[in-house]
Amino acid sequence: MALEDLWFNPALCFINGAWVTPEAGQTLGLSNPSDGSDIGEIARGTAADIDRAVLAAEAALAGEWGRMSAPERGRVLSRTGQLVLEHADRLARIEAMDVGKPLKQAMADVMALARYMEFYGGAADKLHGSTIPYLDGYTVYTLRQPHGVTGHIIPWNYPMQIIGRSVGAALATGNAAVLKPAEQACLTALAFADLARQAGLPAGALNVVPGLGNEAGAALTSHPGVNHISFTGSVGVGRLIQAGAAQNVVPVTLELGGKSPQLVFDDADIDAALPFLVNAGIQNAGQTCSAASRILVQRGVYDQVLAKMAARYSALRVGPALQDLDVGPLISARQKQVVDGFLTRGADLEVAARGQFVAEAPIGGHYVAPTLFAGVSPDHSLAQEEIFGPVQVVIPFEDEAEALAIANGTAYGLVASVWSADGARQMRLARQLRAGQVFLNNYGAGGGVELPFGGSGLSGHGREKGFEALYGFSSLKTVAAFHG
Ligand code: NAI
Ligand code: MG
Repeated sequence: MALEDLWFNPALCFINGAWVTPEAGQTLGLSNPSDGSDIGEIARGTAADIDRAVLAAEAALAGEWGRMSAPERGRVLSRTGQLVLEHADRLARIEAMDVGKPLKQAMADVMALARYMEFYGGAADKLHGSTIPYLDGYTVYTLRQPHGVTGHIIPWNYPMQIIGRSVGAALATGNAAVLKPAEQACLTALAFADLARQAGLPAGALNVVPGLGNEAGAALTSHPGVNHISFTGSVGVGRLIQAGAAQNVVPVTLELGGKSPQLVFDDADIDAALPFLVNAGIQNAGQTCSAASRILVQRGVYDQVLAKMAARYSALRVGPALQDLDVGPLISARQKQVVDGFLTRGADLEVAARGQFVAEAPIGGHYVAPTLFAGVSPDHSLAQEEIFGPVQVVIPFEDEAEALAIANGTAYGLVASVWSADGARQMRLARQLRAGQVFLNNYGAGGGVELPFGGSGLSGHGREKGFEALYGFSSLKTVAAFHG
């Protein structure tokens, strides 16, 4: 099915503009989360392949790619976006099969990837320095220059979106990238590299080395030729990445997920909020860094919100990605084990509602019933820890002060939203909530490509997306000329 959509051999690495066998000649299994079946093999890249990729990136910077003008770089990225659109159906099927996400959600990721390429294609020639008034006889200006070789270690939950925001911004600013996609889902990363090649991206400007985290990933993190690392994934690996980057003293951007809340006040438009309250929890089977896993509801509307959310949960249908239902499988047996563990820890809680498996949900698929827990205490582990599955907790609160304390009362700080008709309250909370993005009377899990995104606390640091990302992926140089 989806493997027939591939136009390249997924057991190869993409290095220096060409498909190459991993040096150690090893492969990893490729599994379909919807039924657990083995469907092929991918490359198991190692340190030797990372080495080749970094050398290719350095050569690209010294060659055609490094000499390319900003407008021409932008054209290449824009053309890549056009090719992504032309291959949209194919890419969506590949991603649905590889990640297990319902087709419509995979298609949304394709559209986001195309938008990133359009956005960063258009932005490539708009990043500029400034002049600075200084001492008599001087002219001072700043230059925005690429870091050099950027390393990108990405997870399996939104491969295309994360490639778009991270690799797109890095290439727009003239870096040469080495991408290590997740071992669970690397197909669209390889497809993207090939589309960029077709769009005219010079050899070596983007290299993709699939492989395991503790092999290819660790080798990329510690490689002395890498000048910047951008990582999205777990807190534990984020710590390793930051420690590894410290050895070579290079900047890192870490996006490590969260425990994002939506705050629903008595004066909120409940019916407008409802789809956002539920979708932001179950989208991509809850495997979303900015999933709204905590729903905080003021006492006056608590019963009403809970009843309406429960009705929606009961109507959720869970099944294979290509059936395009509300919720697909989790990525792996291991992730299902983690989420099942949380459900067991929630055995003492009130279950307000569960979604339903469709009859056709294959036995080997990694399915979990979407579960809505009610009346949860803010310090319960299900209200504190990232679950990364289709599970939400509903927490009651009395007033704004308590809502804020609960909202800010986890180790994370990625996204938050406020549902209220009170404009002054919206402004207060927008300032006080610990989050890199705050949504007022909406919730954009991840938001648009234009919107800077990132966290604080255990959610990480640095900002990706939007124009802001271009600052992070470039280095500022000050030039002071004395001319008397
Ligand atoms: P992970 O952090 O292990 O994997 C993310 C990426 O890091 C993958 O490409 C992996 O190969 C790489 N990696 C793993 N170990 C590495 C190492 N030592 N050095 C360099 N790279 C390494 O995440 P995993 O195990 O797939 O998921 C575990 C949990 O992490 C999830 O349950 C979820 O809570 C969180 N997570 C958060 C994500 C987010 O969007 N912020 C995405 C994926 C996972
Ligand atoms: Mg891992």
